[in-house]
Amino acid sequence: MTVRAPALQIEGLRYEIGDRVLLDDLDLQVSAGHSLAVTGPSGSGKSTLLMCALGLVKPDSGTVSVAGKDMTRLSARALASHRRRHLGVVFQFGELLPELSPSENVAIAALLAGVDRRKAYADARDLLRWLGVPEQGTTGLLSGGERQRTAVARALVMEPTLVLADEPTGALDQRTRETVADLLFDIPARRGCALVVVTHDPAVAGRADAQVSLDSGRLVERS
Ligand SMILES: Nc1ncnc2c1ncn2[C@@H]1O[C@H](COP(=O)(O)OP(=O)(O)OP(=O)(O)O)[C@@H](O)[C@H]1O
Ligand SMILES: [Mg+2]
Repeated sequence: MTVRAPALQIEGLRYEIGDRVLLDDLDLQVSAGHSLAVTGPSGSGKSTLLMCALGLVKPDSGTVSVAGKDMTRLSARALASHRRRHLGVVFQFGELLPELSPSENVAIAALLAGVDRRKAYADARDLLRWLGVPEQGTTGLLSGGERQRTAVARALVMEPTLVLADEPTGALDQRTRETVADLLFDIPARRGCALVVVTHDPAVAGRADAQVSLDSGRLVERS
């Protein structure tokens, strides 16, 4: 029997900024096929927690394992390759290049990871079709919701083990927010990955399999 490591396993994570303990001995686990919502006051360290999962912020102590590898111990090169292979990220404003087409914006993530051109574009187009994003024109001409779905497609193109989303619905109107949230929380079941969503919106958080709140450096489970 093979035992698969959790998609994300954080143990004893501690991170200080100046004399403030931003993340204080945190433990967290998310398995494949499951979603977790992280809420908490502005400035409480939610984005920093995601940065630790990406290996972009080195904690003072603790381990942050993604797909069984501790991101805090990898060399820069191994970290970049592990990140490309196992992590997909969606930010609030999508971080897309407006002058490219949606399929170029999605394919670029695969091309940078060394996937051949034909496969990168075929995968990009399949995902955009699945997510209902129109293919003609440049990304700058899309609506907010369509752009956000393009960002989701880009996060998924490498079939990541773990998808991290930081305020993915923050810039959207209520109806679009619901469409994007429906689609996000459908992802773990449909694609077998784990999903962590940082959000200020209780309606979005309520759709996750589990909810935690970050406050004064500690994680509190919510139901
Ligand atoms: N590199 C840094 N240097 C100094 N302070 C930082 C740095 N990165 C983050 N901080 C501080 O750490 C705190 C947590 O920031 P973080 O962005 O993680 O909060 P957040 O919970 O995501 O907030 P929001 O909900 O507003 O996005 C903030 O007070 C921020 O100013
Ligand atoms: Mg933040």
